[in-house]
Amino acid sequence: MKPVQFNNTVLRDGHQSLAATRMTTAQMLPAAAILDEMGFSGLETWGGATIDSCLRFLGENPFDRLRALKKAAPKTPQLMLLRGQNIVQYTSFPDDVVEAFVRADAAAGQDIFRIFDALNDTRNLTTAIKTVKACGKHARGEICYTTSPVHTVEAFVKMGSALRDLGCDSIGIKDMSGVIAPRIAYDMVAQLRKKVGLPITLHTHDTAGLGAAAYLAAIDAGVDIVETSIAPFANGTAQPDTLRMLALLEGHERCPKFDLKKLAELREYFTGVYKELSKFTSPDNERVDSDTLIYQVPGGMLSNFRNQLKEQNMGDKLQEVMAEIFFVREALGWIPLVTPTSQIVGTQAMLNVKFGRWKTIAPAAADIALNKYGRPPGTVDAELLKLIFERTGAKPIEGRPADALSPRMPKLREELAAKNLPTDDEACVLHAMFPQEFAKLHAPKPAAVPTPLVSVTAPAPAAPAAPSAVSTAKAIGPLHRYRLNIGGQLSEASVEEIA
Ligand code: CO
Repeated sequence: MKPVQFNNTVLRDGHQSLAATRMTTAQMLPAAAILDEMGFSGLETWGGATIDSCLRFLGENPFDRLRALKKAAPKTPQLMLLRGQNIVQYTSFPDDVVEAFVRADAAAGQDIFRIFDALNDTRNLTTAIKTVKACGKHARGEICYTTSPVHTVEAFVKMGSALRDLGCDSIGIKDMSGVIAPRIAYDMVAQLRKKVGLPITLHTHDTAGLGAAAYLAAIDAGVDIVETSIAPFANGTAQPDTLRMLALLEGHERCPKFDLKKLAELREYFTGVYKELSKFTSPDNERVDSDTLIYQVPGGMLSNFRNQLKEQNMGDKLQEVMAEIFFVREALGWIPLVTPTSQIVGTQAMLNVKFGRWKTIAPAAADIALNKYGRPPGTVDAELLKLIFERTGAKPIEGRPADALSPRMPKLREELAAKNLPTDDEACVLHAMFPQEFAKLHAPKPAAVPTPLVSVTAPAPAAPAAPSAVSTAKAIGPLHRYRLNIGGQLSEASVEEIA
């Protein structure tokens, strides 16, 4: 069998999971040329929370980052993580915005698109996959891995076949919480190889200490690619370290060859960057945490959640809220916990603990129950649906959520023109997702601007309310506003007190 290949995640998931997505382009560039020489099958550099972080915290244009990294590392394909119809935000966008985003990203040099939907509803992936293929790029359809009574290897493999039929070039198993057991990883890879017949990548996190072992089992089963990072932006809530993975594979027939001297150089370089980002790192994220096996909380979410609860004066309620996450997840049809569902379930669990179960229902949680994010894998609790109906008159929808959304690109262009801002597709899609932050990027800068690294000490400004295109909540008037920072992302839940 061929040696297994490694994608490297240090420039995206590594710092998203361990340093709140705060690595700047300037901090990445000195390593880019070396990373490009290593023989990684791909470099994950973009998407996920990086676009939000570029605009919100670092004062960077994310497309400029991509272009700079492509220039500095032209040989190795670059990957991005795309949340299907949510692009890199929390709610659904119309098809024309998703298409424009993919086209702009492809034009800026993106090679491989990892496309997932938080509910594993493939209807939310079709537009992105079609557009990636139309741009001549590689579409990797992701299966979000989670455990629940309705998530079986058989069901995941069925989804793999659906992704192949939609035109995906390869299949990714996305284990965002790091909960895949080695034997399950083995079975899934073996079954997907047999029944789907496309190249397979396994992506996991070492949060619960299972990551490297899961990779080893998947490699035995014939997985084509696993994703590793570089310490100290590795292990813990991030991907297993490349060197550690190589050591685990010593003597294995599929062990790939890497220049260990160059790896050591990278490690030394990134140790310096990790120190520079010490405000955003925490030993909580670096250690093996088996709590995640119980709560299935994605990499980075747990530690951020601890901080958020403290801010709400609920620091002593962590255990209770974590247990409630399990309950809320079941009520919402066993949805996987990954952005944006992780933020929504986390918020709702916190509200349930604070005010009593379902006394206050976050609009986004109601939207999940009403199928507005897609079809949940299991059955939504009937009592919850009854409560939502009594309070808002809303019933679950049947069709693909984005079918209810009108095209937005012409309007976005008009809005930007009226503000004297650029009106190209890049500008439109950033404006669609992050209107305030995008405007700020173009605002006149004061003469002496401190470097982004030191300017983020002040509390972050409140996030704008998520685009409400699919929100059903009646605007009775928010009585409580919560701002959650989970997994390095901000999400604001405007909450109306109903009971
Ligand atoms: Co990840």
